Amino acid sequence: MEESFYVTTPIYYVNGVPHIGHAYTTVGADVLARFNRLMGRTVFFLTGTDEHGQKVEEAARKVGRQPKELADLLCEKFKDLWVKLNISNDAFIRTTDLQHVQIVRDIMQRLYEKGEIEKRKYSGWYCTHDERFWTEKEIVEGNCPECRRPVEQIEEENYFFFMSRYQDRLIDYIKNNPTFILPESRRNEILGFLNNNRLEDLCISRPKSRVTWGITLPFDENFVTYVWFDALLNYYSATKYLAADGEESWWPVTHHIVGKDIITTHAVFWPTMLMALDMPLPRNIFAHGWWTSGGRKMSKSFGNVVDPFDIVQTYGADAVRYFLFREVPFGLDGDFSVDAITARINSSLANDLGNLVNRTFTMVKKYFGLVIPKSFSVEPELKALSEGILEKMDVNLKVLSYHRALDAIWELVTYLNKYIDVHKPWSLAKDEQDREKLSSIMYNLMEGLRFLSLYLYPFIPDAMGRLYSCLTGGEVWLVSIKSAAKWGGLNSDSVFSEIGQLFPRIEKTDIKEKRGKVEEPSKEQENVISPDSLPDNLIDIEEFGKVELKTAKVLFAEKVKGSSKLLRIEVECGQKRQIVAGIGKHYKPEELIGKTVVIVANLKPAKLMGVESQGMVLAASEADTLTLLTVDREIGHGVRVK
Ligand code: MSP
Repeated sequence: MEESFYVTTPIYYVNGVPHIGHAYTTVGADVLARFNRLMGRTVFFLTGTDEHGQKVEEAARKVGRQPKELADLLCEKFKDLWVKLNISNDAFIRTTDLQHVQIVRDIMQRLYEKGEIEKRKYSGWYCTHDERFWTEKEIVEGNCPECRRPVEQIEEENYFFFMSRYQDRLIDYIKNNPTFILPESRRNEILGFLNNNRLEDLCISRPKSRVTWGITLPFDENFVTYVWFDALLNYYSATKYLAADGEESWWPVTHHIVGKDIITTHAVFWPTMLMALDMPLPRNIFAHGWWTSGGRKMSKSFGNVVDPFDIVQTYGADAVRYFLFREVPFGLDGDFSVDAITARINSSLANDLGNLVNRTFTMVKKYFGLVIPKSFSVEPELKALSEGILEKMDVNLKVLSYHRALDAIWELVTYLNKYIDVHKPWSLAKDEQDREKLSSIMYNLMEGLRFLSLYLYPFIPDAMGRLYSCLTGGEVWLVSIKSAAKWGGLNSDSVFSEIGQLFPRIEKTDIKEKRGKVEEPSKEQENVISPDSLPDNLIDIEEFGKVELKTAKVLFAEKVKGSSKLLRIEVECGQKRQIVAGIGKHYKPEELIGKTVVIVANLKPAKLMGVESQGMVLAASEADTLTLLTVDREIGHGVRVK
């Protein structure tokens, strides 16, 4: 059997909708998965959602849902985005899957019995956002060193994993395996940390009195497991029930792709857990950088959050995928802006690649009909360049150097564009004597395009899948690239299909138009779209139900003596009542008579300027304007408003 290749993304929290950062990691994993499939390796590409823990519990509470309900809805949003972005994951794990829960419990039991876990009293600084404890030394002026939010001092009994036991082994392992943590800057960071600090033991539980939304410990039902212990084990549990063959053949993981913010959990917690379990460590953990937008950290308050659904709708999945991996070397931070993505699309995809395809197809059709011309001579330089890219891609993608892989491919794009300019097929076409030469040149161009479709397919699968089909009639994803990337693979005399324009240029005005057409979220989605943008003071429907709002007809109104603001109003609301309302500066008493207004009917009576008010009239006010709430159709009095 061919080498197996197992790539993962982090499992994403279901406390909000997908983000461009999530899209980034997942496309990165997809490029590797697609390339390795072409290389004939058996691939398992895993992504999914992290559904337990305080964050999700909190988000669900904010929108008045059960955590599982919120997870069900948001998990669909992630799946939907992966379809839109052409993600070819083999499995999607949810940490609420019963099989995962059982595996986590089994593993914890095993570690407990092995003496790797113990119960201790603990007091420490806890960051709710990152769901982890920090030591006194680690916190920065009372804030979490990672997210900078305030931490709180918590004392409680908890279960601990003896992570400290593995410090030396981990240091040795990192030293002996130079590509275990990449990029190198992150490797140095982790090594520096391990060499200069004593590794603490890891708190892996939460008392149920504080957090219930987790996996109950198999050896103590008053506790649930801490989010990272549950979450990290997804990489293992998925191989047991979601992967084909289901066996250890998938172990160890080839690449864990993560953002730089979660490198410690992956490069320290996770390997030590695996050491305790006597399991092989991942071959590589790669931490990518962060995307900012318009030069700033993305945040709702700056209004600069890039919505992945929006950009896919606007630019297309291929263009977004290409931009993310062309714009910045994987590992560094990048900045998203409309100008940057438009420039990339126009220069690389529309000009370099799109025009090359377009010019070549148009000329072949014009000079040879829809038939691939014959090749009478091979250009050794072009052949070597085309065939040589495969090795460069393999080497660079092994260390997730996507931009270098793209650089190598682009050499061929540039070469072919120049090839057209140098050989000027349109001049050769004028002279019948140059027919053979023209035929070879056009064959070489078409064959060059076939190579490009193979190499670029992992990055821009839709366009390159079409290009490959038009040239060969076949499906690129079925190809074995090692045999396909040999010069001369394109069949002369075979018929090809026209492709049309692959990447039209984008003008800024197009963007506005397309953005306007982004699908409206469904009512259901809208409700969960961003729990974190909702106010903190939400009430549930029962609390609202306590307020009795009723329609009331104004029978009489007069000024309250000694006040310019207050009016005494008599209303009919199933019974007669008097209400004192502070609307005297906006309404004259006589204006009110006969109006149907809305009142709070079950408010405790209160005296205003000595006059009892038996309710409250509803009004909306802004600056100097005030308007009473009335009804916009005939309706009785004393009718419940809800
Ligand atoms: N649930 C944990 C991961 C558990 S893995 C066993 C988690 N989830 S997350 O949804 O908060 O984040 C997932 C990934 O998104 C992280 O790798 C993070 O770096 C990435 N990004 C979130 N915002 C980002 C940017 N602005 N830019 C790039 N990636 C960022 O952490």
